[in-house]
Amino acid sequence: MASYDVIIIGSGPGGYVCAIRCAQLGLKTAVVEGRETLGGTCLNVGCIPSKALLHASHMLHEAEHNFAKMGLKGKSPSVDWKQMLAYKDDVIGQNTKGIEFLFKKNKIDWLKGWGSIPEAGKVKVGDDTHEAKNIIIASGSESSSLPGVEIDEKVVVTSTGALELPKVPKTMVVIGAGVIGLEMGSVYARLGTEVTVVEYLDAITPGMDGEVQKNFQKILKKQGINFVMGAAVQSVDALKTKAKVNYKLRKDDSEHQLDADVVLVATGRKPYVDGLGLDALGVEMTKRGQIKTDDHWQTNIKGVYAIGDAIEGPMLAHKAEDEGMAVACVLAGQHGHVNYGVIPGVIYTHPEVANVGETEENLKDQGRAYKVGKFSFMGNGRAKANFAGEGFVKILADKETDRILGAHIIGPMAGDLIHEICVAMEFGASAEDLALTCHAHPTYSEAVREAALACGDGPIHS
Ligand code: NAI
Repeated sequence: MASYDVIIIGSGPGGYVCAIRCAQLGLKTAVVEGRETLGGTCLNVGCIPSKALLHASHMLHEAEHNFAKMGLKGKSPSVDWKQMLAYKDDVIGQNTKGIEFLFKKNKIDWLKGWGSIPEAGKVKVGDDTHEAKNIIIASGSESSSLPGVEIDEKVVVTSTGALELPKVPKTMVVIGAGVIGLEMGSVYARLGTEVTVVEYLDAITPGMDGEVQKNFQKILKKQGINFVMGAAVQSVDALKTKAKVNYKLRKDDSEHQLDADVVLVATGRKPYVDGLGLDALGVEMTKRGQIKTDDHWQTNIKGVYAIGDAIEGPMLAHKAEDEGMAVACVLAGQHGHVNYGVIPGVIYTHPEVANVGETEENLKDQGRAYKVGKFSFMGNGRAKANFAGEGFVKILADKETDRILGAHIIGPMAGDLIHEICVAMEFGASAEDLALTCHAHPTYSEAVREAALACGDGPIHS
């Protein structure tokens, strides 16, 4: 039995970042993790491995479609799937070992096993019970399936199974046109799989700006992904090496079927809180099964905190990281702060999609007067040189004050470009502030400046 200032349950981006900050602030810290490696879903079976496969499949796309145009001739590469998975696993290993190194460097104890909280101030891991002045639950989330759909991680898979299929399937049905469905769907489409996405709603990527949704879907269709929209999946019949997806079209209730070698279920995620003993402890939960917390991420039980996917808010690694750093500050007697109004969201397809702040639809609903500054990547020299002219930057600013309210980007490096707008928003900047900032030429970021100029006297290159 050991005694700590803080014990964190879960070593994903929320938990490990929180642990490092706690240790840096002088708190004696331990992290409970039952997986064989640190890093949680994100590093082991989520953000990081999917980005490796997205990168590899994008390189194949470039070789197949653009190399010859640039005078790079030779046989197109073929897919060695085993090697691609080995590359992905190597990337995972480098990242998870990196966290282990950071734990050692910061003198953070890794309590190996699955943790539970028998009472406030105590964490049980296996047969050992440890004492902690404060406990932080950072247990993350798990895929939520559908009634009538049984996951076997072979033929009917979640994102976890989709990252280690034994071979590249000929056909794949993706249930759900959210972030996971589109990222993994586009990996396999580029590797030659015929991908069909079945989505309940009439638009892809729920909650995104409507113009981006439409444009993004058009681009994905052009890349060869099929969509069945307004379709509610009722059940999946899994055979040994194939599956049948049964769905109903919402407009007329007609029933249809789709066959596929693999079905990816990507219909959302839910908090992973099994086995923590929260019921017995009396921790209050929301109707959606999330842990309820106050403004300081404390649950209704004193000294028990929760962050990340297990609580309310967007299920994003960087939101969890920010909460982790903030709660560490709170425990060290400092002020912890997360600006939930400025949390970027990114879809790592090619082109990438990124957003921050309000959508046009939200602003209309709120009855706010706003203006739109838009600039197409077709007018950006760097993008044209790199075959990346698809997409646009759209900035929404207050009509009266010019203050930036939101931004939406489809295009090259959108996930990186969005951050200058995040910083601008954190400082309460106007679109003119961005427009008056010198941007290096030739860079993709000039498109951001042009969109900001479009909120005022107009862009130069359109
Ligand atoms: P999601 O909530 O983004 O999308 C699920 C989609 O499935 C929705 O469009 C929904 O309408 C549809 N759906 C639900 N039931 C259906 C049915 N019966 N038939 C047809 N369609 C149905 O969920 P997703 O993609 O699984 O992602 C889960 C979470 O993980 C999200 O919160 C996401 O933000 C996060 N994530 C973020 C990533 C990133 O930031 N790049 C990458 C991967 C996941």
